[in-house]
Amino acid sequence: MADDLKKGLEGVLVAESELSSIDGDEGRLIYRGYTIEELARGASYEEVVYLLWHGHLPDEAELAEFTEAINEEREVHEDVLATMERLAEADERPMAALRTAVSMFSAYEPEDDVEPDDLEATLRKGRRITAKIPTALAAFERYRLGEDPIDPHPDLGLAANFLYMLTGEEPSDVHAETFDQALILHADHGLNASTFTSMVIGSTMADIYSAVTGGVAALSGPLHGGANQDVMEVLFEIDESELDHREWVEQANEEGRRIPGFGHRVYNVKDPRAKILQERSEELAENGEDKWYDYTTTIEQFLTEEQGLVEKGIAPNVDFYSGSVYYQLGIPIDMYTPIFAMSRVGGWVGHVLEYQEENRLIRPRARYTGPTDQEFVPLEER
Ligand code: CMC
Repeated sequence: MADDLKKGLEGVLVAESELSSIDGDEGRLIYRGYTIEELARGASYEEVVYLLWHGHLPDEAELAEFTEAINEEREVHEDVLATMERLAEADERPMAALRTAVSMFSAYEPEDDVEPDDLEATLRKGRRITAKIPTALAAFERYRLGEDPIDPHPDLGLAANFLYMLTGEEPSDVHAETFDQALILHADHGLNASTFTSMVIGSTMADIYSAVTGGVAALSGPLHGGANQDVMEVLFEIDESELDHREWVEQANEEGRRIPGFGHRVYNVKDPRAKILQERSEELAENGEDKWYDYTTTIEQFLTEEQGLVEKGIAPNVDFYSGSVYYQLGIPIDMYTPIFAMSRVGGWVGHVLEYQEENRLIRPRARYTGPTDQEFVPLEER
């Protein structure tokens, strides 16, 4: 057996997948053969999740059935709502509240007695989780504001309904479409850390609630999903700074600060998702506040063109422009990473299902570097 150490599993192939593929040199991302640009332009989040889970784009009847099933599963149990209220009162972070909510959904799962290898049941459970995450998150936000949760809107799709449940107001078409696109862009991305976490859990044939809870936990870190919130915090810092935004980024660079939203394990060029979100951010800026977009483009220009980060393969990733988009949609900044989870659940469930079809327990090794031949000393003699 080869004993090469691949820290961070960089470049290690651990599975075959038909779900998504990234060309990190060309900046190309496809879901089951369709480019991310085409899907963002022409499909809805529900269509994309269907594609990831079922292997083909739905026809009208299939989409209607799938959407109806999701809409019927949106409500969360009153105990989950009560827990969201308690966690909001305790000032819990939204990602932690979401982790608790997903774990708790399983207590009210109607098919909890099926065999772990019943993949059709896993699919239905995954659909329930996908339907309920927006409701639990929006309820948590409402409780934080001291307001009652808003019931899901029967006529709105998953993206528009989430925005509606946050405020009680139906979003404009532009806001609903922009948010739907953002969800599509985040739905899957190969074996990223949270997807791999879900797969490791799924490979033990643990249930999908455990796998998705683990995915949420892995996504919460600043090196993964947490970066979108960090980007917006940087933009606030620039806004409050006495320096102008160009000077701010020069100083941050001199201090050796790592700018969130830059760099990626797989992309050596600008992330294609960042390009699409940049366009959305620019459009929203034209009809709203333009300073956030200005700050981001200044940072990008300085770091990539003047500091030459692009030559080192460090370019904007998906998180760099999503922050200013969400901000303009009126979404609270600590909800950005939960929104990522709300979308990525499509990928987590899809990859677990795909892996479990020909399951093999994931169990790598570590090279032992500790001492050997230690002499044991009883407690009272230590
Ligand atoms: N700003 C400046 N330099 C950077 C940055 C950055 N944001 N990211 C990486 N580098 C440099 C790093 O200093 C290192 O340089 P050197 O080789 O000279 O020491 C080189 O690039 C490689 O960095 P690394 O940390 O070893 O690379 P990695 O593949 O382990 O990490 C990353 C990838 C995403 C963790 C890292 O780029 C990073 O910390 N970025 C900021 C956080 C971020 O935006 N995360 C979101 C990732 S995309 C969304 C997602 O998948 O969740």
